[in-house]
Amino acid sequence: MTILIEMIQVTKTYGEGNMKVTALHETNFQLNAGEFVAIVGPSGSGKTTFLTTLGQLQEASSGKILVKGKETGHLSEKEKTDLRFREFGFILQASNLIPFLTVKEQLDLIDRLDKKKSIKSDRQELFSLLDLEKVQNHYPKALSGGERQRAAIARALYNNPSIVLADEPTASLDTQRAYQVTDMLASIAHEQGRGVVMITHDTRLLDKVDRIYVMNDGRLVEKTQA
Ligand SMILES: Nc1ncnc2c1ncn2[C@@H]1O[C@H](COP(=O)(O)OP(=O)(O)OP(=O)(O)O)[C@@H](O)[C@H]1O
Ligand SMILES: [Mg+2]
Repeated sequence: MTILIEMIQVTKTYGEGNMKVTALHETNFQLNAGEFVAIVGPSGSGKTTFLTTLGQLQEASSGKILVKGKETGHLSEKEKTDLRFREFGFILQASNLIPFLTVKEQLDLIDRLDKKKSIKSDRQELFSLLDLEKVQNHYPKALSGGERQRAAIARALYNNPSIVLADEPTASLDTQRAYQVTDMLASIAHEQGRGVVMITHDTRLLDKVDRIYVMNDGRLVEKTQA
């Protein structure tokens, strides 16, 4: 069993003094290659905090995170950026598309930034799976909410990252597309041996996942299967 990423006793607090909020209490978590894991829990419970800390988008307040066995705490900003680029695909709550680039150009940018020229997904296949063919030359402002979300998914998967972190990736999609995207994430884990963590509110999408965690007031607890 290959451990892709591991969190050991990680906490995250925001603010200082009497403004201090502990968004994440001591958390242990492990994601193995081939696993599709879901995180559920109420709004404000710390799910995004967990995911962005796991993905090195923000620093933990204490504890350790290991990516493929290597501790990340002492990495420089540049090394962290490289690590994120190499290993992670992010689908965040705000789609974070670059406003002055079309859908297609968002992927061109990845090609340009990728000095190592790693193997990419087939663009046309991605666009067709995500139903983006007709809007590939559109700028983000000319996309619907769902199209924007699907473009962000295409961008996150294009690089074939070993770890996919998805924050409500189906929130602006209709039921059928929500299932399609969940199936896609499941096959990335189960057929391609990568690791996927998905935050979701939609309990109908939990059939495909291997493990479910519940976040409550900054405490992550694995749900034992019924
Ligand atoms: N940058 C920040 N500074 C201060 N507090 C923050 C910051 N980001 C989040 N918080 C607080 O931390 C707690 C957890 O927020 P988080 O965004 O992780 O919740 P969530 O579970 O993702 O919620 P939602 O389902 O609404 O997206 C909340 O109380 C929030 O107000
Ligand atoms: Mg959130």
